[in-house]
Amino acid sequence: MVYNQLRSFRAPLICVLVILVLFLIFWLVELPQNNGGPPRISPLSPPLHQKAIVHHGTLPKLDSEQDLSPKPVSSQEDPDLESLLRGNEDEGWAQGPKCAPYPRFDDLKFPNPSFQLTRHGNLSYYLYGAYYDRRPRTPEVMVLVMVTTSEGPYPKTHLQVWFDGDTVPETLSLHETKVAWYTDWGTKPGLVYPTLLTFQLKSPRIPQLVSLVFGHPCAVPQNALKVVQPPAEEPPNPNRPLRTAICVKYLRFPDVDMSERLVEWLELMRLLGVGRVMAYDIGELMPNTSRTLAHYSRSGDGLLDLRKFEFIQETKDHQRFQQIISEVLLYNDCFYRSLYDFDFVAMMDVDEVIMPLGKYLSWSDLLRELQIRDVNCTARSSYCFRNVYFPKELPEDSSIPSPFYMLRHVVRVAEHLNPAMAIKCLHSTGHASVLHNHFALKWMDACGPHDVSPDLGQLQHYRHVDDVKTLDEPTPKRDDNIRRFQQQLIHNSMAVHRQLGWGAAY
Ligand SMILES: *[C@@H]1O[C@H](CO)[C@@H](O)[C@H](O)[C@H]1NC(C)=O
Ligand SMILES: *[C@@H]1O[C@H](CO)[C@@H](O)[C@H](O)[C@H]1NC(C)=O
Ligand SMILES: *[C@@H]1O[C@H](CO)[C@@H](O)[C@H](O)[C@H]1NC(C)=O
Repeated sequence: MVYNQLRSFRAPLICVLVILVLFLIFWLVELPQNNGGPPRISPLSPPLHQKAIVHHGTLPKLDSEQDLSPKPVSSQEDPDLESLLRGNEDEGWAQGPKCAPYPRFDDLKFPNPSFQLTRHGNLSYYLYGAYYDRRPRTPEVMVLVMVTTSEGPYPKTHLQVWFDGDTVPETLSLHETKVAWYTDWGTKPGLVYPTLLTFQLKSPRIPQLVSLVFGHPCAVPQNALKVVQPPAEEPPNPNRPLRTAICVKYLRFPDVDMSERLVEWLELMRLLGVGRVMAYDIGELMPNTSRTLAHYSRSGDGLLDLRKFEFIQETKDHQRFQQIISEVLLYNDCFYRSLYDFDFVAMMDVDEVIMPLGKYLSWSDLLRELQIRDVNCTARSSYCFRNVYFPKELPEDSSIPSPFYMLRHVVRVAEHLNPAMAIKCLHSTGHASVLHNHFALKWMDACGPHDVSPDLGQLQHYRHVDDVKTLDEPTPKRDDNIRRFQQQLIHNSMAVHRQLGWGAAY
């Protein structure tokens, strides 16, 4: 009897216990503990704590000892940084007594899960990523940061570089500071600007971990970034189709379900030969949109690499402007993550399509043709496409099923924008080095951007026009180049709709 009563209470009892244990863990993690070193404070403030768990969608499992480790508080961007650092914590590795000690996890500051913060003098450095660049004659490490100045002066900067298996770091002095923002585009006090710091390596070995230090090269590191590891070097293969990818900035569609639009767009990108789309999730998608995107990021499909991102708030002011500046950080992160897996990468929005024209049906074929025609140049940083609007105000073709917005909109304004306005480019991963939304800011060993003739390709932009007069004058044109993909696009998209369990009422 008593036993049966207990049985019926078992589920609620377990719930209460689980909540108690969770509470205890968080309480313990929040408690400053002193082991002789700096206080062991959780790198994330309590509100972020909870957010990190909501992001993951599941509570930490409690069925083994191991899961009681404070895993959920580590950086989302790189979940095993903490294990790496803690694993080497007691080794006492350094360059010599009191020089460049191995970074301690407890010395790192995470203002949010995307960044580490190190302050020096009047500047704040928000560290985002570290990448190995084997393209320059002397290979480099590039450290991508947001800094509270776009012009300097910058402090004396060094990089402490750790190789797997070594007990002593190399220290490198800063080679170049490349700011991915022009002061002319606007600056405001307290904002942070994307900055690429490069360091020349002394050997071709690929570092595992780096720390940025200021003032003295021996300084105790306050940050640590795992270097994005490149794949093994492949011999060049001129017969291989060119591999292409897309970088999209953060997705912000908090109150419109983008599911159908994104399926149509992603499937069109796939048909154009795009191998990967990288985008950033700032938690501003409707649940249905997230579910749709999850379909594409699951392994097995893998077309989409959706990465979590949180903005920095050094100041409460100018938030929107700060977010615009932050786009440039993401484009550079995505580009450097794509360096070795792709030959050309486009920075694009999900309402844009670089459309190959005439007999060209894929980016790869179009790029080959552009390279052949590019007689004045053996290497190009970027091929850029002129912008032309396909606004929703122009007539829509209702004979096409409604989930296919772009296939239904085949009337565009008459003229392309001029070649300097709102272009989008395919950037060579062999040459481009600092990227902006619309063009490359810097490149190496190559000619500058090439303006592609609108007979060969164009940037189709599915949004409202800048100038309403162009909706009537000159007379808009039918442009159904997208219809070359119609049959396959509808077929492939419908298969996805079915997999997602959407009603097939069309
Ligand atoms: C930081 O201080 C230096 C020198 O004192 C000054 O030139 C610079 O403008 C300051 N930077 C910022 C972002 O306040
Ligand atoms: C190559 O350069 C010449 C001379 O500057 C120019 O007239 C020609 O249009 C260029 N060709 C291409 C394909 O850009
Ligand atoms: C998700 O979006 C699809 C396509 O618009 C729609 O058919 C489906 O009903 C939506 N599901 C939910 C739960 O909103």
